[in-house]
Amino acid sequence: MRVAMIGTGYVGLVSGACFSEFGTSVICVDRDAEKIARLQGGEIPIYEPGLEDLVAQNVGAGRLSFTTDLASAVSGADAVFIAVGTPSRRGDGHADLSYVFGAAEEVARALPAAGDHFTCIVTKSTVPVGTGRQVAEVLARVRPDLVLGRDYDVASNPEFLREGSAIEDFMRPDRVVIGVESEAARACLKGLYRPLYLNETPVLSTRLETAELIKYAANAFLAVKITFINEIADLCERVGGDVQQVARGIGLDGRIGAKFLHAGPGYGGSCFPKDTLALVRTAQEAAAPLRIVETTVEVNEARKVAMAGRVVDFLGGDPAAAGDSLAGKTVGLLGLTFKPNTDDMREAPSLAIVPRLQAAGARVRAYDPEGMAEAKKLLEGVVWCSDPYEVAEGVDCLVLVTEWNAFRNLDLARLKATMARPALVDLRNVYDPDRLQQAGFQYLGVGRGE
Ligand code: UGA
Repeated sequence: MRVAMIGTGYVGLVSGACFSEFGTSVICVDRDAEKIARLQGGEIPIYEPGLEDLVAQNVGAGRLSFTTDLASAVSGADAVFIAVGTPSRRGDGHADLSYVFGAAEEVARALPAAGDHFTCIVTKSTVPVGTGRQVAEVLARVRPDLVLGRDYDVASNPEFLREGSAIEDFMRPDRVVIGVESEAARACLKGLYRPLYLNETPVLSTRLETAELIKYAANAFLAVKITFINEIADLCERVGGDVQQVARGIGLDGRIGAKFLHAGPGYGGSCFPKDTLALVRTAQEAAAPLRIVETTVEVNEARKVAMAGRVVDFLGGDPAAAGDSLAGKTVGLLGLTFKPNTDDMREAPSLAIVPRLQAAGARVRAYDPEGMAEAKKLLEGVVWCSDPYEVAEGVDCLVLVTEWNAFRNLDLARLKATMARPALVDLRNVYDPDRLQQAGFQYLGVGRGE
């Protein structure tokens, strides 16, 4: 089997490297020549644990390569994956599919002559319901000489990779979803995933539209779950209750499940915010509005802003007042990325928190183990530090925004010695409140109202 992976972004690169690890020959294609040159030189443009080694091993074994030459990669492939970006379209929240359709056109032009070969063209990018069929229309328009079902077919194969554990998620998935309309396409995709289903991974074969919807429904459901526990956290604070224990108490019910019930500053990243919004738009247009997802989007946006208010309030400022109620105060942020083990700053809660603290008059110091290069492009006026202890110097309060392992067991005495005032707002409930209080810290977690 030979695979062409169009797009060397997060999904394409991880999926390409993992398929090659299965023994498949993979060519990753990108039109960004500089990126391809870097990849050819062994440089990985994103931070993802294990990816650099995986790429190096498979390049070394001759199973993985990188090129800008889409036509040659496609002409020899059995499966062509379209893994290009689908950003939110400015203004209406819809997914912007211009890259997907652009790639589909180029792929179509590069397909072999009629009767020569069967190629399965697979959308891997997260695409709204109906996109697979539109890709088929593009192919039919550009290559009227080819016969659907004999020379090519389209399929949908959504990914469920989490940043930071993407390789593990690819190698040991809960399930593989393939949306196909023909036996030839089904056989092609099942063949590619054979190493997994030998491990008894369920492979769910559906129609195109169903596969596309599974992806959005999964992300939306997880976003709802997080938002639900975040609101329960707020309630805990008001009425007295510990959200950690509530989460455990409900999560042990197998119907609910323990995962994604960790209260925090609101979900961010490149997927949940974009995908929930796109699903809301699709549902509205189909006259089947998903009101629960609409509310989740709103509540989550408001939550990120409210986290800044929480810090302002904690420091004795007035979150409701304009002006500089935190004048003269300094706040230190531990973590900036939307979650640990990534350098991704997209839709990170820190982006909502920092400017609001600054607007309230506070000076902001910050450190993140991997996200600083990106954060520096997005945030202004921050004093950038090289470790958590430097962040703590002279601050009136530390705010733990991202639960990196490096922040889980800090030397409290050392922090306290350099802080103007020993205080921690722990937006991820990493620390034991009793331990912090014993160490002389003023402490505020999330949903710990007892
Ligand atoms: C998410 C999904 O988990 C993947 O299955 C999916 O493939 C991916 O989107 C995608 O569509 O490509 P990811 O965005 O990498 O993966 O990150 P998650 O680990 O799901 O976390 C998303 C956000 O939710 C983070 O901001 C995280 O801090 C937050 N979160 C997560 C919570 O606040 N509480 C939780 O209990 C879990």
